[in-house]
Amino acid sequence: MEVIVRPTRESAVALVARLIADRLRARPELVLGLATGRTMEQVYQALIASGVSFARATTFNLDEYIGLGPESPHSYAYYMRARLFDHVDIDPANTHLPDGTASDLKQAAADYERLIREAGGIDLQLLGIGESGHIGFNEPLSAISSRTRDKTLTPTTRRQNAAMFGGDPERVPTRALTMGVGTILEARELLLLACGSAKAEVVARAVEGPITASVTASALQLHANCKVVLDEEAAALL
Ligand code: GLP
Repeated sequence: MEVIVRPTRESAVALVARLIADRLRARPELVLGLATGRTMEQVYQALIASGVSFARATTFNLDEYIGLGPESPHSYAYYMRARLFDHVDIDPANTHLPDGTASDLKQAAADYERLIREAGGIDLQLLGIGESGHIGFNEPLSAISSRTRDKTLTPTTRRQNAAMFGGDPERVPTRALTMGVGTILEARELLLLACGSAKAEVVARAVEGPITASVTASALQLHANCKVVLDEEAAALL
């Protein structure tokens, strides 16, 4: 695990956007794993501004809320169109998110894993971290070998994500379809970005603590090619 600390949020975001743009330029047919959340909004702004082409890229998002269709403004499918896909030259047919409205969620999860495999696996997976220590929506006690599946969200996560639902945690869905920790660890390269003091404690546990299912991001210590980019506030307890 390579930990890179930048003085400000802006410089941490700029570095992550530059790394992604570099990979896309070096390999235009990149299979890119994407993440959501507020931290990523600035990464997507910087990627759009970079002018890098996504014309031959394929993307797979980490997760989607169960029960929210792509037209719901709270869905991650909507988030991705609004924040990135509608502003770059990507072919919408090459963008993928788990189907949170599928009647058979087990099948939808298996289909998602198959699609990733058929695309040749993920070259670069972008990650944020939740205050519960989750990557994707792999809440505490997710197995390190877990695959894409239906996961119940913790009260901490629903509170943390309430800002995107008008501030009311009760409006945040209770479940999500998420890539598993094992799915994420199979990506050839991992790039985690965390900014701000609210993430400092969980970042320290993920980076320096024991590898434990209680902090699923700690599993990233097992990956041979993982960069963790932090601003000084998020790195304060390292
Ligand atoms: C959601 C996503 C995670 C992301 C987290 C961080 O929970 N499912 O993949 O890491 O948000 O959110 P933020 O960047 O808003 O702190």
